Amino acid sequence: MLDHTHIFGGEQTRIKLGAISKYLPAYTTALSNTQFRLSYIDAFAGTGVCHVKIGKGQEKRLIPGSASIAIDCKPPFHQIFFIEKKKRHADALRRLKIEAAMPVEVIHGDANSELPPILRGLNPKKDRALVFLDPYGMAVDWITLKAIADSQIVDLWYLFPLSGLYRQAANDAAAIDPDKAAALDRMLGTETWRKDFYAPPKQTSLFESDESDVRTADVKQMTKWVTTRLKEIFPGVTEPRLLYQALPNGKEGAPLFALYFAASNPSPKAYGLACKIAADILKRT
Ligand SMILES: C[S@@+](CC[C@H](N)C(=O)[O-])C[C@H]1O[C@@H](n2cnc3c(N)ncnc32)[C@H](O)[C@@H]1O
Repeated sequence: MLDHTHIFGGEQTRIKLGAISKYLPAYTTALSNTQFRLSYIDAFAGTGVCHVKIGKGQEKRLIPGSASIAIDCKPPFHQIFFIEKKKRHADALRRLKIEAAMPVEVIHGDANSELPPILRGLNPKKDRALVFLDPYGMAVDWITLKAIADSQIVDLWYLFPLSGLYRQAANDAAAIDPDKAAALDRMLGTETWRKDFYAPPKQTSLFESDESDVRTADVKQMTKWVTTRLKEIFPGVTEPRLLYQALPNGKEGAPLFALYFAASNPSPKAYGLACKIAADILKRT
């Protein structure tokens, strides 16, 4: 059976994990002189390892996944939560936890239902947390992002599924069936994408057309729309780093993801510094 560790990630996996492996120690270092209990919450945790194909030769390599990066982070987090839907992956995380120097809770379940209770268990006076959302597709519900933003104590890395968005929001509005529309509503937390992305087709005759609306927003405009939407609930949001499909010839294909950093702390000093560090990492990775 196919295990996710046998799905080969490409350059985009290297970039997202590169950003995480730089931000995690920057975060625990910046807060090391405070009394806060620091938590890392990986809501799509995987297994602790990733197979990647890198470079022109598409060389295969095994690299530590986000769960291993968090466990090995120095200075260390005080506690770690891994949420993982696939039982086999959750079992792999339980084996990984044996080597950890801090308490690690592995939760076998769905990120959207398991993350909010963890956040509710944190004390804003005593806790600070970092959440990583690394779904394969459009699995993160907007209400989950809202719960993160409302906590006011979480820094977030979110690999937003750009290709999921532009594939589901088809060029021809008539091709969006009710299931696709509901999935977009769930991910974006609003129905306004319908009017913001679509317009009636240009009239080519004197007679009224019964053709359906067409998408007028391109990928760049849709990305900008997502950034604006995130800014409605998070005080600090970086410009995303677009991650592209790696073609067999080593060249970049279509954009697949937009890697975002967002800070929920309403203090301008706190979110300003966090966003500055994250933006710098996104540029350099
Ligand atoms: C892209 S992988 C994560 C990779 C991981 N961040 C790493 O660096 O190794 C996505 C993971 O999320 C899991 N998953 C998919 N849907 C989920 C959901 N709704 N809640 C929690 N985990 C989910 C998959 O089984 C898979 O292991």
